[in-house]
Amino acid sequence: MIDTIAIDRAKDHFSGLLGKEMERIEGLKAEGDFQDYGSLDTIVIGIIGGDGIGPAITAVGRQVLESLLADQVAAGKVEFREIDGLTIENRVEHLQPIPDDVLEAIKQCHVTLKGPTTTPQKGDPWPNIESANVAMRKALDLFANVRPVRIPSQNIDWTFFRENTEDLYALGSQGIDVTEDFSIDFRLITTPGSERIIRAAFDHAKRIGKDHVTVVTKANVVKSGDGRFLDVAERVSKDYPGIAWDGWYIDIMTAKLIDPERRSEFQVLVMPNLYGDILTDEAAQIQGGVGTAGSANIGKRYAMFEAIHGSAPRMVKEGRAQFADPSSVLKAASMMLTHLGYPDLGERVEMALEVCGQYERKLKLTGRDTGSTGEEYGKYVLETVSDQNLKAKWEGYAKA
Ligand code: IPM
Ligand code: MG
Repeated sequence: MIDTIAIDRAKDHFSGLLGKEMERIEGLKAEGDFQDYGSLDTIVIGIIGGDGIGPAITAVGRQVLESLLADQVAAGKVEFREIDGLTIENRVEHLQPIPDDVLEAIKQCHVTLKGPTTTPQKGDPWPNIESANVAMRKALDLFANVRPVRIPSQNIDWTFFRENTEDLYALGSQGIDVTEDFSIDFRLITTPGSERIIRAAFDHAKRIGKDHVTVVTKANVVKSGDGRFLDVAERVSKDYPGIAWDGWYIDIMTAKLIDPERRSEFQVLVMPNLYGDILTDEAAQIQGGVGTAGSANIGKRYAMFEAIHGSAPRMVKEGRAQFADPSSVLKAASMMLTHLGYPDLGERVEMALEVCGQYERKLKLTGRDTGSTGEEYGKYVLETVSDQNLKAKWEGYAKA
């Protein structure tokens, strides 16, 4: 028998969501331009420790940033601010993915460097509230999740543009158990949301002199949403005559990323949220693990930079947090420097991370006391950044 009461309840739920989304999309259409950091008297950088190993590795990130931006801090051009309270305990206490006062403090900063936060799921000892990451990306409208992966010695230089506010994530915590027997989740792809991420990818390719953009979907099966994403790509690409593009399906894309014959041909890749989540973990693994990859979450007004890995609560439980690898947060910090208008510094940190982590490897991180601490590693990276011969050294290794 058909349970019409359940159907009506599901319909009401769905129609409530549709109303809110229509409002959001109107807002998207009216949004302005990107923040111009050069015009600010003071750039406020928030440091959000997060959970687990987060506070330990973000502290290393802060030390590196403070050291590289010492002149700007002294001149009052840059200010650092610690933001507490984005912890699982505090979030659970408030039953909010980001407690109101914490969100307010975050909004008082222009950009933030964020450690990983624990993401609740069914069966955990705490309520199944929404992920703080997902909530922050939505609350600050950080629509572009930019994740670079570079292995110069293998000629790999990929930049992933993962859409960050839509797809299954937009309403991921608002699906519905229609009856005892089935659940429906909602996947949302909009034209303005697709257009801004696809444009960001093409603009990036143009800016850094790349001539190819790869658009990843599953448009053969997911016909409406992914079909829309692909249509928008086709239209937007016309504004970038110097840049070729092609569409790939997510399944074959995951295969090609591990094909040594093909993979170095990919340059800038753009895709809806969930495909990007999965593909960037794979790409990071190819580079040496998720601990080596950083991530920029960019919106028109705010930006947040973070590690792409989790909070590793086991390391903390076993008293090993100080041995956690800060590379991912340092990579995020390098992206922040470039984003704030210090591209030379950003590039030096990036080169230093590659020299320290992929080539020279004077210090090794093992996640325990058999290796160095994150703080020692941060100092090693800083020394390498200050090395006059860094560029020549990096080129020597990268071409070897
Ligand atoms: C990431 C993470 C997050 C995501 C989790 C923690 C919600 O995996 O940043 O890729 O799925 O986006
Ligand atoms: Mg992920």
